[in-house]
Amino acid sequence: MSFSVSTRAGAVRPFLAMEVMERGLELSRGGADIVHLEFGEPDFQPPPKALSYATEALNRGDIRYGDSRGLFELRHRIAEAYQARQGLRVDPDQIIITSGSSPAILLVMKLLINPGDQVILATPHYPAYPNMISVCGGEPVFVDTHPADGYRLDPDRVRAAITPKTKAIFIASPANPTGAVQPQEVVQAIAELGLPVLSDEIYDGLIFDDARVQSPLAYTEDCFVFDGFSKRFAMTGFRLGYLIAPRRAMRALQNMQQNLFISVSGFVQRAGLGALDTDPAYLEQNRATYWARRDIMIRGLRELGFGVPHFPPGAFFALADARHIDTDSTRLAFRFLEDALVAVGPGRDFGTIAEGFLRFSYSSSEERIQEGLRRLKTAL
Ligand SMILES: Cc1ncc(COP(=O)(O)O)c(C=O)c1O
Repeated sequence: MSFSVSTRAGAVRPFLAMEVMERGLELSRGGADIVHLEFGEPDFQPPPKALSYATEALNRGDIRYGDSRGLFELRHRIAEAYQARQGLRVDPDQIIITSGSSPAILLVMKLLINPGDQVILATPHYPAYPNMISVCGGEPVFVDTHPADGYRLDPDRVRAAITPKTKAIFIASPANPTGAVQPQEVVQAIAELGLPVLSDEIYDGLIFDDARVQSPLAYTEDCFVFDGFSKRFAMTGFRLGYLIAPRRAMRALQNMQQNLFISVSGFVQRAGLGALDTDPAYLEQNRATYWARRDIMIRGLRELGFGVPHFPPGAFFALADARHIDTDSTRLAFRFLEDALVAVGPGRDFGTIAEGFLRFSYSSSEERIQEGLRRLKTAL
């Protein structure tokens, strides 16, 4: 018996930051002490209520299949929390709970894309977006953004990229890997281009200068919002996210969720309720901590000679120019890992425009950031 990998599966590129992390874990198993700056993984503890609600649910035996759309109470609380954060009313029936925001993105790609259809996105971009588009038979169409204007996604350039095959436009604010926050007028102009908008809001709230930016959902009903508990609540390993979608998309999304994923673990969803029952001071505290770490990271990188052309106003990443050391970011990231035991994200992950750059995450503790910078100094 033999098999061949399908063209679509074969076209999926490795997630290089994960490749670095996985090699780092291998080195750790051999006893190495790796400083992890490659990944968007908050080092905070999740809110205590997330843990206690999940434990209580497990002890109660909440271990069965559930409603494919998710617990009604959780969808209701997410709708309330979204209204509190964004000032926008959504119906719990427009929400589907997913195992992280990643399956939510995949569901929407499956919903919208026929073979050959196009989806427009900014580059640098989160690595999974184009892979999810192409594994569904679509074609990612890139619009470059640049540090000089804060990686602004120019609505005129987006409009110029639209063809009869365009099915949707991605917008991520704050964004990974740039930390960029799109100005309100950009969000509005893109939402008003007349195409469905895919809004990745996983870093919403992780903005440092209090400049609130409203979701494109404020301007168009044809908006799909991806969000989850991984970043704001440091719950990456719980795998808990959700999708907010237009009403008329819900039946098809529910059909796919029932067949592709069935439902999300009940006790994990209870953890989500615990997170939403948490005092907002938890989020404020984390935001202030990131703020302090950001300054240490960026000052440190600049002292080491890396160019950091844009001071990131959101998320917890710095995209640093390393072309003076090596123009091949994958080779350089693995060199830093093997020689300095510091794991960083290769810029190539985020599109050819970010080749030669490295992404440094400041979601690790201040001590680990300092230790990573010290080791890099020695290695350089
Ligand atoms: C921009 C962005 N979207 C989505 C995700 C996926 O997160 P999760 O599946 O944990 O919700 C990530 C994770 O790093 C991300 O950075």
